Amino acid sequence: MGVRFTGWGIGLPENIVTNDDLSKTLDTSDEWISERTGIRERRIGSSTRELAVLAGTEAMKDAGVSPSDIDVLILATTTPERMAPATAPMVANDLAMTCMSMDLNAACSGFMYGVRTAQGLLETGAKRVLLIGAEHLSGWVDWSDRNTAVLLGDGGGAAVLEYDENVNEILSFVLGSDGASADILTAPHGGYFYMDGPEVFRRAVRVVVDSAEKAMALAGVSADQISLVVPHQANIRIIQAVTQRLGIDMDRAVITLDRYGNTSSASIPLAYYDALKNGRVKSGEYALMTGFGAGMTWASAVMKWA
Ligand code: ACO
Repeated sequence: MGVRFTGWGIGLPENIVTNDDLSKTLDTSDEWISERTGIRERRIGSSTRELAVLAGTEAMKDAGVSPSDIDVLILATTTPERMAPATAPMVANDLAMTCMSMDLNAACSGFMYGVRTAQGLLETGAKRVLLIGAEHLSGWVDWSDRNTAVLLGDGGGAAVLEYDENVNEILSFVLGSDGASADILTAPHGGYFYMDGPEVFRRAVRVVVDSAEKAMALAGVSADQISLVVPHQANIRIIQAVTQRLGIDMDRAVITLDRYGNTSSASIPLAYYDALKNGRVKSGEYALMTGFGAGMTWASAVMKWA
């Protein structure tokens, strides 16, 4: 018995903002941003709610289920529409659902925290969970701050997870948090995202490598058996450092940050979706999904696709 993913969807604003566009108003350049981060452009606009609805709608269609088939809606987001109520009930309403719905804030680890939460719910009676990661980060960025403005983007990604009597796709999970790091990456009430970039970078590499190694050991899977790495998309240099330390070829990692920037909770499902559409997800193969974010939080999981 176990849990499997049965449908995926995404939602993106149409508006593309390139590095050159940003360099018109910020003291930065396409050269600096692409060399230091790998980001070339990002999508900006819409809202957390709208992007969540787009992604959720596509994921349910892909799974071949209707809103009444969903028992729980989890919305991973760092950028809720309001402090109260949570955004999830509004998204559920837009999707014609009245089931249990809740927000989950674990920043860029949010989608993976959501997978772990969904797994627990599915193993204790829920039949189907719609998990969405959606962010409108551009609404919380100080557009005059080049330290953060060049990194972030808006987007949404979603998956339907189902209880399955015969199949289990989630082999292991290692999650954690360190509130002592709360101030290195933070957005206060009424304020903007602030980040000590180099410190986030250092700690991110450490926690991702550590949790990924533990998740692989728990699953009994070695680095050379991992055919796909679906990492949080913050900076290509973080992904390079992590894959190198883990001994996994960089060409096994999915990269979407060049097109979408860092979309926090949406980044892992957006990356997975990209791999799926490009034929990189293969039945019977192992994948490592791993993220880190404000909190700090981190989460690594090993999957075996059915
Ligand atoms: N354009 C041009 N120059 C810049 C820019 C910019 N956008 N930003 C910084 N610089 C300058 C700095 O001022 C500095 O100049 P100096 O040497 O004259 O002082 C120089 O470039 C190097 O700056 P560093 O901060 O040391 O650059 P670094 O290589 O560390 O890259 C970055 C900075 C991209 C922020 C990197 O540290 C990083 O990616 N950190 C992790 C970020 C992250 O993962 N955030 C996660 C989550 S976001 C969320 O949760 C919503």
